Order: sequence, then structure tokens, then C-alpha cells
Amino acid sequence: MNFDKFFKSKRKKVNNNLYMIDIIKSKPIPKHICIIMDGNGRWAEKRGLPRTAGHRQGVEAIKDIIKVTSDIGIKYLTLYAFSTENWKRPKKEIEAIMNLLVEYLHRELENLHKNNVKIVTIGDISVLPTKVYEEVKRAIHKTKHNTGLQVNVALNYGGRSEIVMAIQEIASKVANNELNIEDIDEELISNHLYTAGIPDPDLLIRTGGDWRISNFLLYQIAYTELWFSDATVYWPDFSVEHYLDAISDFQNRQRRYGGIVTRKDD
Ligand code: IPE
Ligand code: IPE
Ligand code: MG
Repeated sequence: MNFDKFFKSKRKKVNNNLYMIDIIKSKPIPKHICIIMDGNGRWAEKRGLPRTAGHRQGVEAIKDIIKVTSDIGIKYLTLYAFSTENWKRPKKEIEAIMNLLVEYLHRELENLHKNNVKIVTIGDISVLPTKVYEEVKRAIHKTKHNTGLQVNVALNYGGRSEIVMAIQEIASKVANNELNIEDIDEELISNHLYTAGIPDPDLLIRTGGDWRISNFLLYQIAYTELWFSDATVYWPDFSVEHYLDAISDFQNRQRRYGGIVTRKDD
């Protein structure tokens, strides 16, 4: 390999990214981005590797994405790490994903903390294997006073089960006379979701080429802009360039929320 050429092209890429970041920062930036990190298994299968190798490589892709999200000044990043439906997978694969999670938090926590990142989870973590639960709790506890980027890790998360949980809580408050039926409105429901207090996502990104939501943030994405990667871009391939492309694409969209854009002569 020609190293000179290699470093030159790497430097060019880095400079390009810095240039893109500057442009992104000069426009209104999204407050909240959420990502369905899909395609780890196919990334591995394409290379004749076990699916777990794809999950390992997928974890590596997270680091740079967190870093640029924070550099741009985006306040919230929600990462779909494990869904309520992912328990349907073979035990071995689930175990590998859980172990990788523990390994990642163990390895990266200090760095995340130093960068003022606050780790939060959404989903029912109480049923996770003890060591995962403990590592996750440790990360939440250590970073709870951080004021920079908040990373919400969706773990054993399902949009429908979240809505069921919210309804149960609201219904029990009504039954106990803590709440009147007339008090139930959109805001009250939002405040009973795992994401209470977090603004709805502005942009949802899904890698891997599938155009679906897979039970992610169903209530919160009512007016979220959707961005799907090419089918060739599996999560481990998702680079800072792809990410910046998605964000600038978002910045060029017109959000109408059901209204109309009034023109001067209207
Ligand atoms: C996403 O990658 C990671 C998790 C669901 C944990 P997949 O494992 O779903 O990879 P594909 O979609 O099968 O390629
Ligand atoms: C969504 O991916 C869940 C995560 C990325 C954690 P899946 O691979 O589980 O979704 P489907 O099965 O393709 O809809
Ligand atoms: Mg998948």
C-alpha cells in the first residue's frame, strides 16, 4: 500500500468532514437524533463471518457517531441497541450482544464521562442479565450530572410495550383519584413514556436498507423526518460521512406539521 496516498486521502476525508460540520453548525441543528443501528448480521454474513463479528464491528461504529453528535452540539442521541422482539434470536447471539454491551461500557465509560456525555436508558432494563444491568446502572450513575450530549440507549425497548406501560400508569392514577380523565392529553402521555422530558426526535436514521420502524419510538416519531441508508450500508459501515449526509439532508427539508407554508402573495 502507498502510505503517503493513504494518509493524504484520510486527511482529505477528515478535512471534508470538518467542512461539513461547519456548514451543519451554521444552520438550525436537530435537537434529537435517533438511530436504528441495523445490519450487523448481514455485514458479517457478507464476509463469511459469524453474526457476532458483525455486532462487535457495530459497537466500534458507535464511538465516532457519539463524538460528532457531541461536536455538532446536538443535545440528544437515541440508539436502538436491543428491542423487545430481539429476545426471539438464538440464545448465543443474545448472549454475545449482552457481553458486547458490558464490554463497551466498561471500556468507554471513562472516555464518555470525560466528554461530559450523559448515559440514560429507555426500555425495561430490570429483566436484563445481572451483569448487564449492573454495568448499565454504573454508567447511568457515573454520568448523571453530565451536561453535554445525552445518549439514550434503547435496551429491551419496544414502542408498543412503552405505550402499554404508560396507559397502565395513567389508568392506575385515575383509579386512585390522582388524575381525572379530562387531564389525559398528548403531553400527559408523553410524560409517562420512557422519554419523558426529552423532545421528540427531529431525525430518525436507519441503516441496513430496510424501510421500517421495527417498534421504535412509535408515539414520539409522529413528525420525525426519516432517513434510510442505501441497502449497501450496514451499521458497521455507517461512517461519519454518511451521518453528516443524513443531517444535511434533514436540514434541507421543509417540515410542515400538517400546516402549509405561506408565501408572500398568499
Ligand atoms: C442490528 O443488526 C443489531 C441488533 C438488532 C441487536 P442485526 O443483528 O439486526 O443485523 P441484520 O439486520 O440481521 O443484518
Ligand atoms: C431493529 O432491528 C432493532 C435494533 C436495531 C436493535 P431488527 O433487525 O430487530 O428489526 P427487523 O426484525 O428487521 O424489523
Ligand atoms: Mg436487523
